[in-house]
Amino acid sequence: MKEGIRIGLLGAGTVGSGTAKVLELNRKEIIERVGTPIEIRKVLVRNTRKVRPGFEQAVLTDRFEDILNDPEIDIVVELLGGVHPAKEYMLQALEAGKAVVTANKDVIAQYGHDLFAMAAAHHTEIFFEASVGGGIPIITPLKECLTANRITEIMGIVNGTTNYMLTKMSDCGSDYDSVLREAQQKGYAEADPTADVGGLDAARKAVILSSIAFNSRVKLEDVSVEGITKITPDDIAYAKNLGYVVKLLAVGKDTEDGINVRVHPVFLPKDHPLASVNGVYNAIFVHGNAIGDAMFYGQGAGSLPTASAVVADIMRAASDICHDRVTSTGCTCYEDKPVCPIEKTSSSYYVRLLVDDEPGVLAAIATAFGDAGVSLNSVIQTSRNVVDHAEIVAITHTIQHAKMQQAIHTIENLPVVDEVRNIIRVENGEDQ
Ligand code: NAP
Ligand code: HSE
Repeated sequence: MKEGIRIGLLGAGTVGSGTAKVLELNRKEIIERVGTPIEIRKVLVRNTRKVRPGFEQAVLTDRFEDILNDPEIDIVVELLGGVHPAKEYMLQALEAGKAVVTANKDVIAQYGHDLFAMAAAHHTEIFFEASVGGGIPIITPLKECLTANRITEIMGIVNGTTNYMLTKMSDCGSDYDSVLREAQQKGYAEADPTADVGGLDAARKAVILSSIAFNSRVKLEDVSVEGITKITPDDIAYAKNLGYVVKLLAVGKDTEDGINVRVHPVFLPKDHPLASVNGVYNAIFVHGNAIGDAMFYGQGAGSLPTASAVVADIMRAASDICHDRVTSTGCTCYEDKPVCPIEKTSSSYYVRLLVDDEPGVLAAIATAFGDAGVSLNSVIQTSRNVVDHAEIVAITHTIQHAKMQQAIHTIENLPVVDEVRNIIRVENGEDQ
């Protein structure tokens, strides 16, 4: 058995520093569980002069080659973020026969297949548990514990930043900009939060989850993506009054029409299990034909929770190296299922319109919905927060997305309608 495992850490930021902390904090248990110590040999950063608590200056380097060409380094732990140069570094590490651990959903979502192929070709492994759900075990359960099932649905709150923001906006009535700043200060949001608030971060995670769950490669361009940037305090207030909370959901369904993967805000009934997933917590629901419903819940971002998943992957890779074996399940996309377009999906919808406050407006809108085959469940008209106008809020019955789009196209061209302020799906248990 090999004595001592050495790792090269790429990145010493939020997750990199957390990884060093967890390796130190649980040093004794880690040695017992793996059978040998794990040592951080070198750490790649951009700025080697910056003092970094938890890292000795001597281990810092700004040259990836120092890690790649060090024959004593067994595992490369990629925690840089972004696609380039992270993807190239991981491919080079695998090609050199080193195991790779990563938390990088950007690379796994787009280039996972290339990385698996490179690992297999060089009799080594790649692990990426932290790429979805931070500290929540979900990749390994999907790849290993749930393989006896045919999974038909995966749905969850997979972005900590937006869940934190929506929770704060709902609990404290805080405005969008101040809650975003707070999320960044706490290390939840990426340095550039566009991908978080725009839904792209959740879409990458949805790609990874759906590809594994449905055994068929889902591409990022197949995912319909809408973030939380259009959610206003008014939408949140209407949701509350109507008995809902607003959440950003990632949804993957394996239907008769193909695989549908989408990310969008949703009105969730207050008693829905996902409605009580608050703050930086994430939760992922999986429906399998043997297990039924299963839910995975925990901290989806942050230094130590994410490092919990990274270090567990390091330990598994270390253990495999010690025993000269490969135990990870490689690529599981052995099917090629068609993509179900978003237009074919169906759901109930919340629609908020700014309209002229005059007779006949409600009738014109009801007619436009009816002509498109959209049936209304409830309608509220208020003059709250508007001058010389009224707001109409409607909740529809379940309807195909294409028909809803047709209705909205007619409504936004009605002379009495000034603005379609928002359209948000409502989860009523009947959507597809
Ligand atoms: P971060 O705080 O921005 O840290 C990135 C680190 O990588 C920094 O130390 C930076 O060096 C270094 N770095 C970046 N590009 C580099 C380059 N080209 N060459 C050398 N060093 C480079 O990022 P993070 O939040 O730890 O995220 C790391 C990864 O974990 C990302 O893939 C992210 O999506 C994923 N993740 C993060 C969380 C979370 O809660 N933050 C949760 C789950 C997954 P300097 O310090 O010198 O700038
Ligand atoms: N920015 C991400 C989030 C980090 O907020 O969930 C975890 O991937």
